[in-house]
Amino acid sequence: MAKYIIKGGKKLKGIIEIKGAKNATLPILAAALLAEGVYNFSNVPELKDVEVMMNLLRHLGLKIEKKEPHKYQITNKEIKNTEAPHELVKVMRASFLVMGPLLASRKKARVSLPGGCAIGARPVNFHLNGFENLGAKITVGHGFVSAETKELIGAEINLPFPTVTGTENLVMAAVKAKGKTIINNAAREPEVGDLCNLLNKMGAKITGIDADRLKIEGVKELHACDYKIIPDRIEAGTFIILSALTGGGVEIKNARLDYLISFVKKLKEMGITAVDVGGNINVKIPEKLKAINVMTAPYPGFPTDLQAQLMVLMSLARGESVVEEIIFENRFMHARELNRLGANISVSGRKATIQGGRKLIGAQVTATDLRAGAALVLAGLTAKNTTIINEIEHIERGYEDLVGRLQGLGADIKKQP
Ligand code: EPZ
Repeated sequence: MAKYIIKGGKKLKGIIEIKGAKNATLPILAAALLAEGVYNFSNVPELKDVEVMMNLLRHLGLKIEKKEPHKYQITNKEIKNTEAPHELVKVMRASFLVMGPLLASRKKARVSLPGGCAIGARPVNFHLNGFENLGAKITVGHGFVSAETKELIGAEINLPFPTVTGTENLVMAAVKAKGKTIINNAAREPEVGDLCNLLNKMGAKITGIDADRLKIEGVKELHACDYKIIPDRIEAGTFIILSALTGGGVEIKNARLDYLISFVKKLKEMGITAVDVGGNINVKIPEKLKAINVMTAPYPGFPTDLQAQLMVLMSLARGESVVEEIIFENRFMHARELNRLGANISVSGRKATIQGGRKLIGAQVTATDLRAGAALVLAGLTAKNTTIINEIEHIERGYEDLVGRLQGLGADIKKQP
């Protein structure tokens, strides 16, 4: 397992450019199953998770060519296979996103049931109930979910929770269903909106985008198109915190501050301001950071994917901060690792209490999941002496060329294969 070796405590300076959004790219790639033709996608991040989704689409019969970095051409001549095997789905649970488009295009799909992961059980019952609302017959057995239908019929779907990939899967199933579909309590994340905008460019009829009630008029045919992926807001938030931790000299390029309103408001409570100056985000830091309380929530609330990174800032702030994680049941594994670096975080259920005023000192730590790993990188860059982060494969699923980009800012970080 590869490691990062970080010598922390340095002030960083320069401009870091945000890549395309991983969580928009994954559903948008799956949407290429909905119509034959040639798609050209740009601003595609070069990530392991994206590669896994591309390999799954190749397995299903699509041809995918890298034209140049971040630019891919997908040719859907014919879907040859409607089964997503265990060895591909187990690597990345978002592979489950092929179920909706396969149902819409081929009226059947057999996808390995995505397991849970470090941060929670992550069931897919809301996806399956929605497919049944649309007229699909679902059977679960031998570790697979099978779905089939004579014809998908538009329906009113009430989501018990605004599930992000659940909303995306159901929109992709509904775009060619007969009649109208309404999805109530739909997820409003910008990545869901990006998928819907792509689908409308393909000829779908979706209204209510970015709101919690999506209306989809089924159409007979869709067509391929070209599309540019939106920038990654979680990467942007991660690097805004990086700048605040390392002296405020790092500017963030290509980020969309309007995707980070709740996050920026919380930073302001700590005394940190993030403002757009001529297209780059500049970060201003106070003499002393203030402790704050945060509760994660579905968009537009505070993103669960940024709470681990925020805890590094909270460890330095004056006073006691609290994080309540209401999205996932087990998303505080970074606490134990941050404590090895000198933080003082106690966890009880879905609540973490962070004592501030800490001095972080380098140590050996282990990444447990993508965003926890990102938090450890931020902590290592802040801590005195050397930090070694093990199992960095988790981190490289969601951050392209992280070592190269951080070195470009003057960070002393190396990857040891
Ligand atoms: C998406 O996961 C993101 N992944 C996650 O990002 C993100 O943390 C999460 O949304 C929340 O914002 C992708 O978009 C690929 P959910 P998703 O369905 O769709 C429960 C990262 O770091 N639930 O919104 O799987 C579920 O257990 C990743 O990039 C059900 O109970 O999240 C969870 O507690 C991590 N039944 C809550 O809802 C269901 O059928 C939110 O899950 C579906 C979800």
